[in-house]
Amino acid sequence: MKRVDVADTTLAVRDQGHGSPVLFVHGFPLDGGMWNAQLAALSAEHRVIVPDLRGFGGSPLQGAADDTVTTMAQLADDLAELLAVLRIEEPLCLCGLSMGGYVAWEFWRRHRDRLSSLVLCDTRAAADAPEAVETRHTTATRLLRDGVGFLAQAMLPKLLAPQTLRDEPGLVAELTAMIESNEPLGLAAALRGMAERADATPWLADVELPTLVVVGEHDQISTVDEMRAIAASLPNARFVAVPGAGHMAPMENAPLVCDELLAFLGEQG
Ligand code: MLT
Repeated sequence: MKRVDVADTTLAVRDQGHGSPVLFVHGFPLDGGMWNAQLAALSAEHRVIVPDLRGFGGSPLQGAADDTVTTMAQLADDLAELLAVLRIEEPLCLCGLSMGGYVAWEFWRRHRDRLSSLVLCDTRAAADAPEAVETRHTTATRLLRDGVGFLAQAMLPKLLAPQTLRDEPGLVAELTAMIESNEPLGLAAALRGMAERADATPWLADVELPTLVVVGEHDQISTVDEMRAIAASLPNARFVAVPGAGHMAPMENAPLVCDELLAFLGEQG
């Protein structure tokens, strides 16, 4: 793991392999470790960059207060600066899951000349409804008061398909440890940032990049229907539903997601 200074913070970054670059952006409340299977499978043919976003994993927030907000635009700008520091000049594929997808929309808006293609996994284009905004603020307050202990139990049934929860104790333990290793301050700041994110739906028709849209067929957070509609609104997208997976499709059915990614990247030359 490298440590890379960007803006006013330091990011922990996995940087492995050679070839056309791919940048993986994790979801909430996780870290770049969620992409370990993709890092292993793709780095034989690609340079794979997997940061822990500011406030997550090995990239704790620096100088933050209880009311700090980490916006999706800030996270996108961090990634653009990370690419500059790593001297990655050629346009790349950005693959984001859920919150990583929210960051992808902002990255496209702010740094689209850096992109050659997109992979959107288990994410949404719509902004939060008012009740969801309220829940995020309540959860942020609780995180700062009680710590991260409650979060894994609250989120696992939403993140994983029922059969994963039942049959994959190793994956459940891995995800639990990843969630619990995060700091309340970083998670609370990102919750507030997600709550105020823009509605990306009006942008979709202009996202002309080749795009792969991937969703676990049991995803309860970003459903198959919602993601199929996103793919239909994008001018140049392919849609893949992943069997045996929920919201964490790249972990729950890693072989299939890796194969789809390699095929998609191969098509881009
Ligand atoms: C994620 O996986 O990143 C979260 O489910 C995103 C969200 O809370 O909207």
